[in-house]
Amino acid sequence: MSNGKVLEYTIETESKKDALLTCIGDIHAGHECHENKEAKDFFDYVMNWCYDNKVYVFGMGDFIEAGTKESWGTFTQKKFASEQVKDMIKAFKPIAKTGRLIGILEGNHERRIRNLTGFDVMDTICSMLDVPYFRAGKLVTIIVKNGKKKQEYPFYISHGGTSAITQAGKINAIKRMSGIAPFAEIYCMGHTHTLLHHVEDGYNNMGILIPKHYLLTGSFMTYWESYAQEKGYSPNRMGSPKIKLHVNEHRVSVSEA
Ligand SMILES: [Fe+2]
Repeated sequence: MSNGKVLEYTIETESKKDALLTCIGDIHAGHECHENKEAKDFFDYVMNWCYDNKVYVFGMGDFIEAGTKESWGTFTQKKFASEQVKDMIKAFKPIAKTGRLIGILEGNHERRIRNLTGFDVMDTICSMLDVPYFRAGKLVTIIVKNGKKKQEYPFYISHGGTSAITQAGKINAIKRMSGIAPFAEIYCMGHTHTLLHHVEDGYNNMGILIPKHYLLTGSFMTYWESYAQEKGYSPNRMGSPKIKLHVNEHRVSVSEA
């Protein structure tokens, strides 16, 4: 399980190449808005892109839908939780075997099972994949090295929780993480199913003013007939952030996978 200690994770890049990293979560395996051709094909495409391009991955939680008899959406599942778990282990196994799956967070959907039964399903998924389990959140310093060049990028990642509907509300939710990790440079949060990159200046632990990156990490669910549509939320495109950590200079570039 996770704790407040910083995990240092070193990436040795090939000559003159920067490190590529992404945050994959809110897949909701088993839900009909994931178990359709559009969502599944796109998820497979992103996983293959990670594998083929040596991309490092944070698992952001809500891998499975985990509908229970007491939860919203139980009857929108196409598969039971045991099948959802098997599907996710199969999907993440290739990248886990390369050592580039840095760790996985618990989402509120996996937490449904833990709260009802005491069975920590994401802990089991992490054991099966042989990767660290970050549960509620983790401080991770990514050290990017190439020869004598070395950059350190402090992250704080969490599945998070908010019922905010507006973009401003969602940004406020992720900005609260700077209270937990004031000197992080990159904050990554799942849960909102929104892909968003917000930049704001702040101080690092050396007292230097730097751009701080706040990333909402997207989902792999289609919109129509989703919980989001039922509730009247805006539609969100699928995907995950593509984070380039430069090695020759201290710089973070963000686009979309
Ligand atoms: Fe989710």
